[in-house]
Amino acid sequence: MKIDFRIEHIDPLGQGVFKTEGADPESGEIKRQVTFIKKTLPGEVGTAEIYSVKKGVQFAKLIEITKPSPERQVPECVHFNQCNGCDYQHTTYEKELEYKKLALTRHLFKFPEVPITIHGAPRRLSYRNRIQLHYDKKKKLLGLQDALMQIIPVPNCLITAPSIAYELRALYAENSWLNLLAKEPPIGHIELYAKENDKREGHNVQISINRNYANGGFTQVNFEMNEKLREWVKKKADQVIPAKAIVYDLFGGNGNLTAKFRNTTLVVDKYRTPPEANGHQKFYSCDLYDKSAIKSLIGLKTHGIPRPNWLIIDPPRSGLKNLHEFLAEFKPDGFIYIACQATSFARDTMPILKNYELQSLELFDLFPSTQHFETIGIFTRRKLNE
Ligand SMILES: C[S@@+](CC[C@H](N)C(=O)[O-])C[C@H]1O[C@@H](n2cnc3c(N)ncnc32)[C@H](O)[C@@H]1O
Repeated sequence: MKIDFRIEHIDPLGQGVFKTEGADPESGEIKRQVTFIKKTLPGEVGTAEIYSVKKGVQFAKLIEITKPSPERQVPECVHFNQCNGCDYQHTTYEKELEYKKLALTRHLFKFPEVPITIHGAPRRLSYRNRIQLHYDKKKKLLGLQDALMQIIPVPNCLITAPSIAYELRALYAENSWLNLLAKEPPIGHIELYAKENDKREGHNVQISINRNYANGGFTQVNFEMNEKLREWVKKKADQVIPAKAIVYDLFGGNGNLTAKFRNTTLVVDKYRTPPEANGHQKFYSCDLYDKSAIKSLIGLKTHGIPRPNWLIIDPPRSGLKNLHEFLAEFKPDGFIYIACQATSFARDTMPILKNYELQSLELFDLFPSTQHFETIGIFTRRKLNE
């Protein structure tokens, strides 16, 4: 069904929100209807097609804008209007950052007010060092899935780093990906990833086929912004964490965030084969979502690993629901929570505000052009509870 819309505001997921209210012609009852339309801006008027209704809320695909916002600009990527990967290329980067800040403010509306510092990215395109694509050999389709789970080809995706973009174009050229996947099942997924910060075209890109995503272990998708993040975390850690404090880097991956710390650090992650201790960093493999995780960390004392005074916590999008249990057990002097999903950050840290004070709040844009960003909070234990 087609609808005419006027966008009221942008929601935290970067979608335009259109609201209507009117009396039901039969019952006279006032009915309110909310419709989310991606790739629109406040004040814009146009038409869209409803493609899904969930719990009374409608989702529509933009067809046409008849009254564009002065904030609107022509997206650089030819795939933007169809592709689900990016959310903000239809406006300036300054506006994108404003919307992201607004999103974070809304997620944290119950928190005491702490100013948000924005760390924007030096480039909005050409940064992603990983891309995950779905394929369907029968339909000869390779690309990203849209909201209707249809595969949208993205041979000229502009957010990929040059080396990935080069490999991507090669895969699409004359459907050469079909040869690569000749012995693979009819439908599946592939991932292209650059192992190091190598910007040369055609270099250093690996392709994993029908394996878990982040094959070979998680690495941050934006090398340049990751470097900024690491430097910032290191600088802050040197200011707030005493040199002799023991740090546990939970969901630490390869130890990326604490690699330059001066503190003795235990890096804990499930999906890594722990390497040998590396200077100040020791590594431990543990499922931090398992019920026995805390007990397992406590048990390390018998192996000569002391309890932590500070925690660095960088979980996947699902966050760490039982953060309060980790804090109740270890009673750290403070922790730095790095969240790629602001809703998880709010859910996990809200219950502990009684005992821990949020000292600073940062928004690091590791994912320009998309609705995603990193939220970082530094929390310290309140003195009253000592
Ligand atoms: C957002 S990444 C952060 C990684 C690291 N801090 C970095 O900067 O590269 C989340 C990490 O959580 C790890 N992980 C996912 N599920 C886990 C689990 N159940 N237990 C422990 N680690 C897990 C992943 O392997 C990944 O390294």
